[in-house]
Amino acid sequence: MRVIITGSAEQLAEAGCQIVARQLQQKPHSVLGLATGSTPIMLYQQLVNLHRQGKLSFKDVTSFNLDEYYLLEGTHPQSYRYFMNEYLFNAVDIDLASTHLPACLAGEDPQQSAVGYELAIQAAGGIDLQILGIGANGHIGFNEPGSSLASRTRLKTLTAKTLADNSRMFRPDEYQPDLAMTMGVGTILEAKQIVILASGAQKADAVQHMVLGAVSARCPASALQLHPNVTLIIDEPAAAKLDHADYFRQAERKAQTL
Ligand code: GLP
Repeated sequence: MRVIITGSAEQLAEAGCQIVARQLQQKPHSVLGLATGSTPIMLYQQLVNLHRQGKLSFKDVTSFNLDEYYLLEGTHPQSYRYFMNEYLFNAVDIDLASTHLPACLAGEDPQQSAVGYELAIQAAGGIDLQILGIGANGHIGFNEPGSSLASRTRLKTLTAKTLADNSRMFRPDEYQPDLAMTMGVGTILEAKQIVILASGAQKADAVQHMVLGAVSARCPASALQLHPNVTLIIDEPAAAKLDHADYFRQAERKAQTL
């Protein structure tokens, strides 16, 4: 795993933005896997800035988001569809018809929706570049601890920890779903390239386990150790418990000289 330790949230976003921009410049018809949460917001802002400067186009991009709350319509302000429209899709030239989230609405069969999502990813040629965040409990997407490391898109019950962490997004009187449709760990591992972002001290334990802990369903993100092309971009607080952090810094300095 390539580990980039950055000095600020802005640098973290910039490092991620460079990788996405390079991908789209090399392959305008890329299939992007996208994530929500507070961590990628600044990355999306930087991509929007590049687009406004005329340096980046999304017009031929297809996208698949990692996850969506069960039964939340895209018009709901806490839905991930709403988030993506707000922070990225409506601010760039992407064709909204080419953007996908694993929604499962009232009256739809969750299993059929899940299989349909997997087939749509395959039909698009698979994901070229997957952006990920990480939960404080080591989840990726909504693959909570205990998720099969071979799992595919399905409905997952959210843990009490995840519900508590994400409750800040919901008003006290607002319904917070405790189920979500998420790509599986196995789905995520099929992306050709993965960039994972983590910021803040609350992510330090999960980062340490993901990079150097046992590959285990206890920390679903640890499955990324099995992927040949993962770049982890973190800030200093998220790196605070990372053994060998100096080695990762040294390796990055060395890479600059090659
Ligand atoms: C949610 C999402 C994850 C995301 C995580 C971390 O649970 N399903 O994809 O990585 O939150 O979010 P944040 O970046 O807000 O810490």
